[in-house]
Amino acid sequence: EKGGYATFMEKEINDQPHAVRDTLLGRTDPDGRLVLDELRIPEQQLRDVNRITVVACGTAAYAGMTAKYAIEHWTRIPVEVALAHEFRYCDPIVDEHTLVVSISQSGETMDTLMAVKHARDLGALTISICNTHGSTIPRESDAVLYTHAGPEIAVASTKAFLAQITASYILGLYLAQLRGGAYADDAQAVMKELAEVPAKIETLLGRMGRVQEIAKFMADTRSVLFLGRHVGYPVAMEGALKLKELAYIHAEGFAAGELKHGPIALIEPGQPVFVIVPSPSSEHGLHGKVVSNIQEIRARGARTLVIAEEGDEAVVPFADEVIRVPATSQLLAPLLTVVPLQVFALWLSTAKGLDVDQPRNLAKSVTVE
Ligand code: F6R
Repeated sequence: EKGGYATFMEKEINDQPHAVRDTLLGRTDPDGRLVLDELRIPEQQLRDVNRITVVACGTAAYAGMTAKYAIEHWTRIPVEVALAHEFRYCDPIVDEHTLVVSISQSGETMDTLMAVKHARDLGALTISICNTHGSTIPRESDAVLYTHAGPEIAVASTKAFLAQITASYILGLYLAQLRGGAYADDAQAVMKELAEVPAKIETLLGRMGRVQEIAKFMADTRSVLFLGRHVGYPVAMEGALKLKELAYIHAEGFAAGELKHGPIALIEPGQPVFVIVPSPSSEHGLHGKVVSNIQEIRARGARTLVIAEEGDEAVVPFADEVIRVPATSQLLAPLLTVVPLQVFALWLSTAKGLDVDQPRNLAKSVTVE
């Protein structure tokens, strides 16, 4: 049942091209326009949405943070991302024009369920992005958009994360198409680019031997930092979460721009730092800014593990290791850049002789508040 792999997590990481492909399936017409009849929400009600709040926990919340960048860019609807347990008890601002999108692999996370129920009581429209048919959160929501990652057995979430990003992007593009704004016509082009992602993940997975090698020699590491910017920021936090869960090491993800506001004080000789570098084609010169960050931490002795696009030569002088990802547009990059971080956590956990599929103190679904 592990398909020839030693652990479910390794299998699920390698399943990710399918998770993305299957989540894209059946959501466009032959012209590539999005069709989401499955939502069964009157189109006018979706056009009237003037605010979106994403509620989720853990990895699902990082998928939500990624979605914020994309949905705001495509629809110009303000998107807030709230940890479900914080949202529920913070007197949230919600009315009938608020769309509350919950993201949950299991569909049983009590914190997320309570947030959805509260939002419904306040009159919000609720859509659940969920991986488990017939689970509680979709039943308690007005509509559901299923991710098709297949069953996720390993406690740490991997393929569900990619499927959640994919589904939330589908929702964002659908709203853009429906509302007819500046990006309405781009929806088809983005869907086309999304369709190319599974093959790119496949290519990337074929290069993970070096990441396994790096992890193997880091079993004694006590702390790892992760830096990212824009959509690379939630990826940095997801990379840190995977490492905490699986290898029980202190790990923290930062927004790269925040470095000089404090975290750079943590840098001392030998400190491993993963840096997720935006594509050189990213807007607003973000690539150059992150390359400067790598330069700054390297000058203070950090060991830089750099995730960069193929052909990005600017990072080479400051990188102790470069992990290459296939080129894709900025918003889709997390579907690729997170993969080496998952693989790193898997093999570091293995190098420490730990139980990858069942880390200590964790349960697959957290059904208590
Ligand atoms: C991380 C992880 C957790 C879950 C979180 C939400 O690897 O597994 O952080 O992502 O507990 O779970 P779901 O998505 O089932 O609501």
